[in-house]
Amino acid sequence: MKAFEIKAFDPQVASQAEFEAYNDFANRIQAEEWPEDPPSQLEETIRELRATPPFVVRQRWVVWHDNEIVAQGIATFRRTEDNQHLLWFDIAVLPEMRRQGWAKRLLKLIADVAQQEKRRLLMTSTDSAIPAGEAFMRRLGARPGQVSLTNQLNLAELDRELLRRWQERAPKDEFELGLWEGPYPEEELDAIVKLREVMNTEPRDNLEIEDVHWTREQLRQIEASLAEQKTERWTMYVREKKTGNLAGYTEVFWSPFEPETLYQGDTGVFPEYRGHGLGKWLKAAMLEKVLRDRPQVKRVRTGNATSNASMLKINYELGFRPYKQWTTWQVELEKVLEYLRSSPG
Ligand SMILES: CC(C)(COP(=O)(O)OP(=O)(O)OC[C@H]1O[C@@H](n2cnc3c(N)ncnc32)[C@H](O)[C@@H]1OP(=O)(O)O)[C@@H](O)C(=O)NCCC(=O)NCCS
Repeated sequence: MKAFEIKAFDPQVASQAEFEAYNDFANRIQAEEWPEDPPSQLEETIRELRATPPFVVRQRWVVWHDNEIVAQGIATFRRTEDNQHLLWFDIAVLPEMRRQGWAKRLLKLIADVAQQEKRRLLMTSTDSAIPAGEAFMRRLGARPGQVSLTNQLNLAELDRELLRRWQERAPKDEFELGLWEGPYPEEELDAIVKLREVMNTEPRDNLEIEDVHWTREQLRQIEASLAEQKTERWTMYVREKKTGNLAGYTEVFWSPFEPETLYQGDTGVFPEYRGHGLGKWLKAAMLEKVLRDRPQVKRVRTGNATSNASMLKINYELGFRPYKQWTTWQVELEKVLEYLRSSPG
C-alpha cells in the first residue's frame, strides 16, 4: 500500500517534480471550482507560489500519497498594524480523498500557527456549488460573515453606447481622469496610500475585519509580487481639479497566462464625491481602454458582496451577471481547538 505523508510545501526550495505534482493537484481543484477555465500552466503556478509579498506570511502543507498530492492546507496572516487578530486559511482535498479526516489533520497544523501567532479569529471562503465546504464549516462551529458573488461580463455583449454615455455625462469641468499603467508613480505614493483608504467604506457585513491601512512599503511589495507573476495592473483615478484631491479609482489585472480573462479589482469613490457619476465614468473609461488596448480579453470577472448595492447596480447595468457565489466564514480559534479536541480523528 502506498504511504500517506503530510509535509510542508516551501516554494522557495521545491523541486521541479514537486511543483509538477502541485500543479496537477491545483488543476484538479480548479477544475471543480472553475469548470470552464483552462488548466493553469506550470510556470504560472510556480510564479504564483513564489510571489507572496514579504509582509504576508503563508505556510502551506500538502498530503503526499506516493508521488501525488491529494490535499493541501494553507495558513496566511499579514504582519501589519491592523487585523492582528486574523488568520486566513484554506483547505482543499481531492474529491476521492474526502471524508477520511485529511481536512481535520490539516486544520490542526493551521490552528497551531494561529496559536503561536496569537491570532484569535480564523477566516476562509467556500464555494456555494461545493456543499462539502459549508458542511465542514458548520461542523467547526464557524458562522457566515459575508456572502459574495463572482460577477462576469462577456465583452461581446457589452453595450458600447452605454460606455459612451457614461463618459460623456462625466463632470469634466470639476474632475479629471488619469491612468497609472503598472507601478504607481513615486511622487503620488502618499496620495495613493490615502486614496486606497476608500476601500474601507466597502460593506463588510458581519465580518470582524478592521480597516486596512496600507503603507508605501506594502504597496511596493505588492507590485513586486505582481511583476513576479507577470501580472499587469492598470489603475484609473479621478482627481478634483479645484483641490487636487483624488476622489476615487478603479483597478484591473491582466496576465499573459490567462489572456482572455481580465480581473476587475477595487473600485471606490469617497463618500463626499458620490452621486456625480464618477464610479460609472471610471468603469466605462477603463472598459473602453480594455477594448482598445487588450483585444484578446473576452470576459471581465469581479467579486462583489451581495450587500454592495451601489457597485452591483453599476456592474449589472454594464452587463455583468452572477457567475459563482461564495460565503466567507469566521470562527474563533478557541472553537476550532475545542472541535479538534472533541473529534481527534
Ligand atoms: C471541505 C473539505 C476540505 C473537507 O475535507 P475532508 O478531508 O473531507 O474533511 P474531514 O474528513 O477531515 O472532515 C472534517 C469534519 O467535517 C465533516 N464533513 C466534511 N465534509 C462533510 C460533508 N460533505 N458533509 C457533512 N460533514 C462533512 C466530517 O464529518 C468531519 O467531522 P467529524 O470531525 O465529526 O468527523 C473538502 O470537502 C474540500 O476540499 N472541499 C472543497 C474546498 C473547500 O470547500 N474547502 C473549505 C474551505 S477551507
